[in-house]
Amino acid sequence: MDKIVLIRERHSVRNYEAKHIEAEKISKIRDKIDELNKEGNLHLQLIEDAGKTYNKLLNRFAGLGSAPSVIICAGKDDETLEERIGYYGEDLVLYIQGLGLNTCWAGTFNKMGAETEVNEGEKIVISIAVGYGKDKGKPHKSKTPEQVIEAKGDRPYWFDKGVEMALLAPTAINQQKFKIRLNDDESVEIIDKGGPFSKVDKGIVRRHFEIGAKTYGDTYK
Ligand SMILES: Cc1cc2nc3c(=O)[nH]c(=O)nc-3n(C[C@H](O)[C@H](O)[C@H](O)COP(=O)(O)O)c2cc1C
Repeated sequence: MDKIVLIRERHSVRNYEAKHIEAEKISKIRDKIDELNKEGNLHLQLIEDAGKTYNKLLNRFAGLGSAPSVIICAGKDDETLEERIGYYGEDLVLYIQGLGLNTCWAGTFNKMGAETEVNEGEKIVISIAVGYGKDKGKPHKSKTPEQVIEAKGDRPYWFDKGVEMALLAPTAINQQKFKIRLNDDESVEIIDKGGPFSKVDKGIVRRHFEIGAKTYGDTYK
């Protein structure tokens, strides 16, 4: 499905039906994870039975305890890990949305709550809840393009479309603490303004920006 449509349809879902994901979809998700793990040098893993992953008090308050499955996002620990997880993890989130399922990135979770494989030198960064939502979520409150853009003079159409898609990206506590800078040579920088999980946010936002800019412009590199 068109990635732009998937971006518009995706919202965080925290309450799930007590229904397992069909084997065919599980297998598709696993194939996609294999591909992304290779591309991003990551160790994302789908745990079909989320077990006690979301048994923390905060999860009980915010929901997520009902999620049947979870993706544990781990990878080789270096300074790029969080951003890579955001970038490739969001690709996975959009792919899963296209299978008719729902998701929620979750930094609050019990790392020991499910059977996870963590190899030497790897670190678990975050989780993604997966399942059939009881609802489809709702659009988040958003900053305006002017609040995040840093650009002088005229902006190419693809840049504004990239920003539009970036503002639809999930960010931790909906903080949207980023700026998107257009340089004179038309290169683009996503600037992380800090906050919890802001490096993961940066990767997610970069993925959304690229989808928008590549879909709407052939001069975007
Ligand atoms: C890095 C990251 C961490 C998050 N952690 C949590 C979490 O621990 N619990 C939760 O309920 N939602 C969590 N979220 C979901 C955000 O609250 C949500 O993405 C944001 O409010 C925007 O809403 P939307 O995803 O529906 O667009 C997280 C999102 C991101 C990107």
